Amino acid sequence: MSVEQLQQSPAWDDGAPGLGHVLTPGLDISHKVILYLEDISVSFDGFKALNKLSLAIDAGELRCIIGPNGAGKTTMMDVITGKTRPDSGTCFFGQTIDLTRMSEPEIAHAGIGRKFQKPTVFENHSVFVNLELAMRTDKRARTSLFARLDDDGRDRIADTLKLIRLDHEAGRLAGLLSHGQKQWLEIGMLLMQEPKLLLLDEPVAGMTDDETERTGELFKSLAGKHSLVVVEHDMAFIEQLGGKVTVLHEGSVLAEGDLATVQNDHRVIEVYLGR
Ligand SMILES: Nc1ncnc2c1ncn2[C@@H]1O[C@H](COP(=O)(O)OP(=O)(O)OP(=O)(O)O)[C@@H](O)[C@H]1O
Ligand SMILES: [Mg+2]
Repeated sequence: MSVEQLQQSPAWDDGAPGLGHVLTPGLDISHKVILYLEDISVSFDGFKALNKLSLAIDAGELRCIIGPNGAGKTTMMDVITGKTRPDSGTCFFGQTIDLTRMSEPEIAHAGIGRKFQKPTVFENHSVFVNLELAMRTDKRARTSLFARLDDDGRDRIADTLKLIRLDHEAGRLAGLLSHGQKQWLEIGMLLMQEPKLLLLDEPVAGMTDDETERTGELFKSLAGKHSLVVVEHDMAFIEQLGGKVTVLHEGSVLAEGDLATVQNDHRVIEVYLGR
């Protein structure tokens, strides 16, 4: 995406009320649950990609979603982010925000960030400028592209650079980073928008073992302040994350629990062996 496209995107609106870093007014997590899906079904030409899928994620939780190819993991993320409308079912962000009635930009603005598999950074800009651009597209930050970056903005970028381990690469062109570093940069760009819920689809695909492990450390450090839903096939990575695991199969939840428990579940074993 070019800066021009970014400016034209619906998320770009400098006229929004300056809410500073106040997050998602109206997000009610008083019942601990930040994301709630009930009986979500999605069909593509009669094929049920999601079949009465029900799922609840607690605020601050780090949840892993696994399941064979075609289980519906990406489709689930498409529903949460408003890219795909479910045929039926409910999908709530906190107690009161009905995601099925909102557009993709509205959902992003409400505090749900999504990371796709392929890194999409501005290759011709430095790491620092990538983070700065991400911050400036945030309606809540009330900064214009041409206004000088204030101390608070600088501090936020510096903190994020440390978190994603790119503080020594701030001046480097993003296009020159390794694949893993680009993925971290994109995660950093999401974090600049201060999402409450982060959806990560196969975030460590193509990473080296070392990068994968560092990514695991990063996610664990984000949990608590953020809620994370991580879709992955890499079992060593899932084990490192150590959270609750949900197994999807044919569009619904097959099993849920800690990794050891679901790995010993005969239905899960059958599904994976039957691949
Ligand atoms: N836009 C679409 N049109 C038609 N069929 C689709 C569409 N999107 C997904 N599907 C089908 O829905 C099913 C679920 O796909 P989905 O991408 O959600 O699976 P997944 O669990 O993410 O798989 P993978 O692990 O391979 O990424 C698949 O059979 C897929 O072919
Ligand atoms: Mg997928």
